[in-house]
Amino acid sequence: MYLMESADETRRLLAQQRANDSRQVMMLTGVKPGDRALDAGCGPGLLTETLTHLVGPSGHVTGFDLSPERLAVARARCAHFPNLRFLQANISDTGLPEGSFDYTWSQFVFQYLGDRKSALEELVRVTRPGGKVVVSEIDGLGLQNWPFSDALHEGTLRIANALATQGFDLYVGRKMHREFIEAGLLEVRVHLLPFYVSAGEADTRLVRDWETRFAALESVAAPAFGGKEAYQSHCQEYMRMLADPMGLKYAILLVTEGTKP
Ligand SMILES: C[S@@+](CC[C@H](N)C(=O)[O-])C[C@H]1O[C@@H](n2cnc3c(N)ncnc32)[C@H](O)[C@@H]1O
Repeated sequence: MYLMESADETRRLLAQQRANDSRQVMMLTGVKPGDRALDAGCGPGLLTETLTHLVGPSGHVTGFDLSPERLAVARARCAHFPNLRFLQANISDTGLPEGSFDYTWSQFVFQYLGDRKSALEELVRVTRPGGKVVVSEIDGLGLQNWPFSDALHEGTLRIANALATQGFDLYVGRKMHREFIEAGLLEVRVHLLPFYVSAGEADTRLVRDWETRFAALESVAAPAFGGKEAYQSHCQEYMRMLADPMGLKYAILLVTEGTKP
């Protein structure tokens, strides 16, 4: 199950993808003109499009996702690229040929996977020897705020624990380094990058991002608060914290790269 599924998820992902400098991250981790690149769990395809610009006309890009709705948006947005295709596939069993990519990218998917090992093995399998595997992930999203009351901190951890029972890992970013080494990848490096920083009142994009997240997670998280009312009251308090003109809110990305032997 994809925990963030909601009617508004495609819009949230497009807004979020626009806000981050993924182009720089992809270049930093070695994507090159002419590469055959893969975007695993591509969502509505904005970063798949970025990859297509980076590999240029001599390269080729494949994006896959589980969600037919997001794939339809991705295909409609990117129909003008002759060297880009979208497929419906599961990250643990893509059906793609072995060794067929020079650069394999996945962002914000591993946090949802109960079985990260088989997903990473699959990404390594489809990458050619000498090719790159790159996973960009959150680490402690939602916890780095000041002022941040004990009640809000405790409520945020309560949500994280409820999601953990469904396979979600709030601290996945820090774990990928070890898991890359265990998967046999070489020259494993980790880059720490900003996800967002809001000094003062959060902007509309960040506010909507958290509203969508809280709404999508209600059915899983509310029981941990004893019901919807208490959960919604926590969410409202969190939104007030985001609106604080004196408050600082930030989140990081940990981007892990490794080379297939
Ligand atoms: C938070 S979105 C990230 C989308 C995009 N990578 C980005 O950076 O914005 C997570 C995506 O992973 C997809 N997903 C979740 N589990 C998956 C799986 N097992 N195989 C393939 N895609 C999956 C979801 O459908 C969703 O579109």
